Amino acid sequence: MNVVSALHELRDLSPGKEEFRASVLAGLSASPKTLPCKFFYDAEGSRLFDLICELPEYYPTRTEVALLTARAAELAALAGPGAALVEFGSGAGVKIRLLLEAMREPSLYVPVDISRGHLLAAADGLAEDFPGLPIAPVCADYTAPFLLPAPSGQPPRRWAGFFPGSTIGNFTPPEATAFLAGAARLLGPGSLMIVGTDLPKEPAVLIPAYDDAAGVTAAFNLNLLARINAELGGEFDLAAFRHEARWNAAESRVEMHLVSRHNQSARIGASRFTFAGGESIHTENSYKYAADAFRRLADDAGYRALRFWTDPAGLFGIHVLEVPASARV
Ligand SMILES: C[S@@+](CC[C@H](N)C(=O)[O-])C[C@H]1O[C@@H](n2cnc3c(N)ncnc32)[C@H](O)[C@@H]1O
Repeated sequence: MNVVSALHELRDLSPGKEEFRASVLAGLSASPKTLPCKFFYDAEGSRLFDLICELPEYYPTRTEVALLTARAAELAALAGPGAALVEFGSGAGVKIRLLLEAMREPSLYVPVDISRGHLLAAADGLAEDFPGLPIAPVCADYTAPFLLPAPSGQPPRRWAGFFPGSTIGNFTPPEATAFLAGAARLLGPGSLMIVGTDLPKEPAVLIPAYDDAAGVTAAFNLNLLARINAELGGEFDLAAFRHEARWNAAESRVEMHLVSRHNQSARIGASRFTFAGGESIHTENSYKYAADAFRRLADDAGYRALRFWTDPAGLFGIHVLEVPASARV
């Protein structure tokens, strides 16, 4: 076990290689073929995602950071002094700094992420910059149930969940409702949930955000095949697949695909998968929610909507939700 700070050790519940193998074999045996996007995030996938956040085409990160900067004091007031923060899919831990700087005496920070090395590096950086803040990293798949680390001192006055980056858009709407309901059970009655959602907009803005000129998103998508080769003994020829981003208006989502350039087959251990030319592996969805649509989804999951903020161009939204104190979760 790695020690991140003097206070807490990493809790490692990350999916193992067998779960990765089973998901890959099931996804490539399905019709149409799919691969779960949570497996994008090995060390290289996390590095590439951080590069995506800096791209000129990728408006979500800079827009959400500007919104959080403008609203940090209000969020801190809503959370109140002594609150404990749980961040789902914490990544590089950039956005949480804005909240931690504004909050009064945060009592605990629990970053939850599937990408172990990246999680530890981010937690180390935060421990250095926020000395005295207890940090309890959890390496886990947040779609599976897990327990929160027990705070070492007094119980926190309030738990607050933080799910930025429009990562909730990677779920289908029923999955997003189930995730939010699970987070409400985890955090308990009276807790806050702060969720960043990308808003619907014209494909001329959306598609370049998922298919940038420098090819970083293409490398991010293809890295999934590289990971299958490295970890599962796969024999994919990466040059035989191309990255494609598609706007699915009926579902209000951007889809990422890996499209086979020609008829081919690829082995993973004893299994062989065939691909027709033009056939795709669907690797990610990014649902875009109008404010009302997301509010209905949060309502179905048992939350009360407290605030919604967007930027002047209406690109991105932040929802502040509350699990009612009377909720039976
Ligand atoms: C789109 S990135 C967002 C990163 C960061 N929160 C931000 O706003 O820039 C998604 C993050 O969630 C993590 N992640 C994706 N699926 C996950 C899962 N099922 N369980 C835990 N972490 C997951 C990834 O490792 C990555 O750090």
